Amino acid sequence: MDPQLWLAPLHGITSRTFRNTLCRHFGGIDCFMSPFLPVQTAGKFRPKVWQDIMPENNTALPLIPQLMGNKPEQFVDTVRVLHEQFGYERFNVNIGCPSSPVVRHTRGCGLMPHPEMVEAIVAEVTSKTSFRLSLKMRLGLHSAEEGREVLRRLNDYPLDFLVVHPRLGDDLYEGIPNWELFEEFCGITRHKIVYSGDVFSKEDFQTLSERFPKVEAWMLGRGMLLNPFLSEAIKNQEVGDKKSRFLAFYHDLAESLMPLRGESGTLANLKELWHYFAVFTQVPDEELQRLLRINNLPEFMSVSSSLVETRLIASLQ
Ligand SMILES: Cc1cc2nc3c(=O)[nH]c(=O)nc-3n(C[C@H](O)[C@H](O)[C@H](O)COP(=O)(O)O)c2cc1C
Repeated sequence: MDPQLWLAPLHGITSRTFRNTLCRHFGGIDCFMSPFLPVQTAGKFRPKVWQDIMPENNTALPLIPQLMGNKPEQFVDTVRVLHEQFGYERFNVNIGCPSSPVVRHTRGCGLMPHPEMVEAIVAEVTSKTSFRLSLKMRLGLHSAEEGREVLRRLNDYPLDFLVVHPRLGDDLYEGIPNWELFEEFCGITRHKIVYSGDVFSKEDFQTLSERFPKVEAWMLGRGMLLNPFLSEAIKNQEVGDKKSRFLAFYHDLAESLMPLRGESGTLANLKELWHYFAVFTQVPDEELQRLLRINNLPEFMSVSSSLVETRLIASLQ
């Protein structure tokens, strides 16, 4: 049976435009999770914040909206409104984001040293609504004992699943994930587990899926940026002509970003992506740095497309 592959939420990157464009050009992904959105208070909703998850903008694949906050009542208000307005029935709570402004405000991974706050959110949402709630977590912020305590406290709540990215918040994205602790965490929790972290190749997937057969779904994040054919490769799908397919995706993405982000926003977004695309297209660092200095979108598109034309061939041999 094919594994379940989900696109990991990458704030600032996997927007609806990226998700929809990815889906038009590549197969293998089964489900999306949105990058985190702030919870809000009833009566003070700012609908503009929800653009990314509006159903009309998300027709390609099932989407699980991800929420960030620390006040249980705001989670309840927000999931109720998102259900009423958009029909969502599944929600994910972010307790894994390690960025310092987020952590400083006791949100994201900043909640992990406060298991009572995590439990309060889960208790409130699961007792006051019938929606399917999940969490996306790390091993802890400073220590894995924080994650163990969160898992123990959540065992008796009716959760949809837990996504575990096996690093500490303090590690950011450095080093390698701690698979021994991931194994231990799988043993502590009674919930379904979705894995997230460093699946960069088909071989990585094979090694991890053999080692962790109980994982129900696999999130692909940076791996899909480093190689957008990764999901197809894992599912043994025919990839065909990588160069022309990648270029079609790339141009479609730039054109789709333009109406929403304008020229400078599109350029900024593409520049961020090129840190990943350069690996897949085998563009050397010197040429990448030259590309990133271009501040005009048409010129950027022309230079980057020629780089794909000339460099990607080598990666196919
Ligand atoms: C730029 C960036 C933005 C991210 N944004 C989010 C986010 O909004 N919500 C979330 O739960 N995780 C976020 N993550 C974490 C990823 O979803 C994922 O767990 C992590 O990158 C490890 O998986 P990977 O190695 O497959 O990328 C982000 C990671 C990166 C690098």
